[in-house]
Amino acid sequence: MGKILDGKAFADLRAEKLKEKVKNLKAQGVNPLFCVINIGDNKASKLYVRTKKRRAESVGIEQKIYQLPQDTKEEDVLDLIDELNQDPKVYGIMVQLPTPDQIDENKLLERIDPEKDVDALTPSNVGRLWQEDHFVEPATADGVMALLDYYHVDLVGKNVVIIGRSNIVGKPIAALMLEKNATVSILHLGTKDITEYTKDADIIVSAAGQANLVTADIVKDGVIIIDVGINHVNGHLVGDVDFENVLPKASMITPVPGGVGPLTVEFLMEQVIKLTRRANGIRG
Ligand code: GUN
Repeated sequence: MGKILDGKAFADLRAEKLKEKVKNLKAQGVNPLFCVINIGDNKASKLYVRTKKRRAESVGIEQKIYQLPQDTKEEDVLDLIDELNQDPKVYGIMVQLPTPDQIDENKLLERIDPEKDVDALTPSNVGRLWQEDHFVEPATADGVMALLDYYHVDLVGKNVVIIGRSNIVGKPIAALMLEKNATVSILHLGTKDITEYTKDADIIVSAAGQANLVTADIVKDGVIIIDVGINHVNGHLVGDVDFENVLPKASMITPVPGGVGPLTVEFLMEQVIKLTRRANGIRG
């Protein structure tokens, strides 16, 4: 029977340490301010933004939300990003994705000052990630790596299979796993037969957004499963993994909810504090 990796408890533990760091910053007269730009009416985005604000407040970080209308012009968002880039009181900027069709999200991301890029999605921060010289990491990827470390999972030489190639999750996790000397495969919609990879995987990270994609018959005994999927099925939140049937075969597994989800929000706040400390010349 697999050990269930409690992402919620781990996130709460980290939050206690983060609160101390925030307190220390404030004692030095530094107020961590983080700005989120959300464009349009996407319900999930609005929910994410509110969840982040609650978490930010609970650790003492000030979060400002710029809620812009669905028909906002790209130029206006670029102007807002310029303004926030130049504001010395702002330590973190994030554009909530996806953006409406009239806006090229890459253009927005390119405009963010890399030193304020809490998502680590600007081209220079993506480059730094693959060059193993990064000072900020995409939150979910950082959270997954920290969770594995917390549970003493050694990654050297492990066959890691990542399902999903997104810029936010799949690719950065691949970069960080590679940095730890794992052997990494990234599977995606064009992969002919995912079973060919999953059956030999020591670790599977599923970020495909498809319920029941990872079933007991396609994994090996003792596999470690990190389920990043968020799917709504019959009013319930489920991951990509058939949890009940994979649990007996796995050595470790994250549940949904209560696994990776809480880590994403916690580690986003950790990026804000990393950037705030960096901007103020505070090391570590
Ligand atoms: N939308 C869903 N997840 C994310 C994320 O991690 N960052 C951004 N910017 N937008 C998102």
